[in-house]
Amino acid sequence: MDAVGAARLAGLVGDLGAERGPRYAALAARLRLLVADGRLPVGARLPAERELAPALGLSRDTVTSAYRRLRDDGWALARQGAGTWTALPAGPVRAGWVPGPVGEGVLDLAHAAPAAPPQVPAAYAAALDELPRLLPGHGYHPGGLPGLRARIAERYARRGLPTTPEQVLVTSGALHGLSACLDVLLRRGQRVVVEDPGYPNALDALAAGGARPARVPVALGDGDGAVAALSAAARATGAPLAYLVPDAQNPTGLTLDAAQRRRLAAGLQGAGTLALVDETFAELALDGEPPPPLAAALAPGRSVSVGTLSKAVWGGLRVGWLRADPPLVHRLAAALARRELSGPVVEQLAACHLLDGLDAVLAERRPALRASRAALVAALGEHLPSWEVPVPSGGLFLWCRLPAPTSSALVAAAARRGLHLAAGPRFGAGHAFEDRLRLPYTHPAPVLRRAVADLAAAAADVAPQDGPAPAAYVV
Ligand SMILES: Cc1ncc(COP(=O)(O)O)c(C=O)c1O
Repeated sequence: MDAVGAARLAGLVGDLGAERGPRYAALAARLRLLVADGRLPVGARLPAERELAPALGLSRDTVTSAYRRLRDDGWALARQGAGTWTALPAGPVRAGWVPGPVGEGVLDLAHAAPAAPPQVPAAYAAALDELPRLLPGHGYHPGGLPGLRARIAERYARRGLPTTPEQVLVTSGALHGLSACLDVLLRRGQRVVVEDPGYPNALDALAAGGARPARVPVALGDGDGAVAALSAAARATGAPLAYLVPDAQNPTGLTLDAAQRRRLAAGLQGAGTLALVDETFAELALDGEPPPPLAAALAPGRSVSVGTLSKAVWGGLRVGWLRADPPLVHRLAAALARRELSGPVVEQLAACHLLDGLDAVLAERRPALRASRAALVAALGEHLPSWEVPVPSGGLFLWCRLPAPTSSALVAAAARRGLHLAAGPRFGAGHAFEDRLRLPYTHPAPVLRRAVADLAAAAADVAPQDGPAPAAYVV
């Protein structure tokens, strides 16, 4: 497994100034967080103490004690004379950006994934009723059940992007579809334009495929700036591919409007860059009408769209899709078949019912999310007035700005109070976004209000003075 150099590790560890207690414990806690959220791979060889100590400005004894603490807690292994490797302790801990089980009494605010709506069990019951019709066949449906492909195509047509069922491939969720796309579209060492910050699993998949990301800063409230910068990066790097989340971008919440989409499409086309459009949050516009799909502004063959029912309905369904033009669909279908011959039938039958009733599901989900968003914003304004809380027009989360670069320290302090958070740097590269925290509003308002009170207590543990007067709040 890879070794991680002292300079790189020091960059990932960042500033420990906000951590309370002995330095060795603070360093051990930060290294544990890096392993737990996947920024530091399991099985990575850590630098020798004598190399890491000067890179961090700490004593060698401090690093030695931190490594010992990691070993004692199961987060590292040592072989006599050969070094120290990151590891996972036994028990229900998951590395990487994977929503795992959380402990009893722990609230997961790290992942933005809503609970299933009541329509899900009914859709499964209906699917089981229909199953006998399909049982005489072999059960393999490469590309997906025809009825499901037709419904997905129909939904695109309603959103302003005429689509035939043959242009749709069913996947086991958006991430599965995205990985299959990268198999087909990405060569090692290739430049790929990406938004910064971005969705950790997609950035990890790109890194695993050998992409060289051209990171483009994006921010809520500056869609024009994002479009100009993304187009300029495509032109400057000649990147063949751009991975984009134009609807409620994860984590900033930025949604590009129709005019911005047209300009971005022109910019990408001018640069010869294919758009890999992740539409995970496209159905979750909360304020006003959703803009048309980005692919509608792109010429045929210049985009692949990745969709899913995970956020509009439920992540446990594991039903998503790809949409592309026919020549590309054939190559993508082959890549999908190499990964998984065909998807599960009952889930796809249930997805047909859920798509038939999607407007009704969303008619309940959107107001519930609006109420939770308002409650979270209000609670943050009350308990953490020094945090900047820009409010996105859709999606599932707020990308808060903290008054100091204490995100990782806050994650550790909040864990002691039963809150599972994702540190801001998990959404970027290296040590950026240490002054950011993504907070999902996927829980009901009373849960979020209690969580913010606990979060404020954790923030006080990290930085006793909660800074100056409130920034503007926009609901
Ligand atoms: C931008 C983005 N793409 C893809 C996914 C994964 O979706 P799925 O559960 O359908 O694989 C997520 C999940 O949070 C996401 O935020």
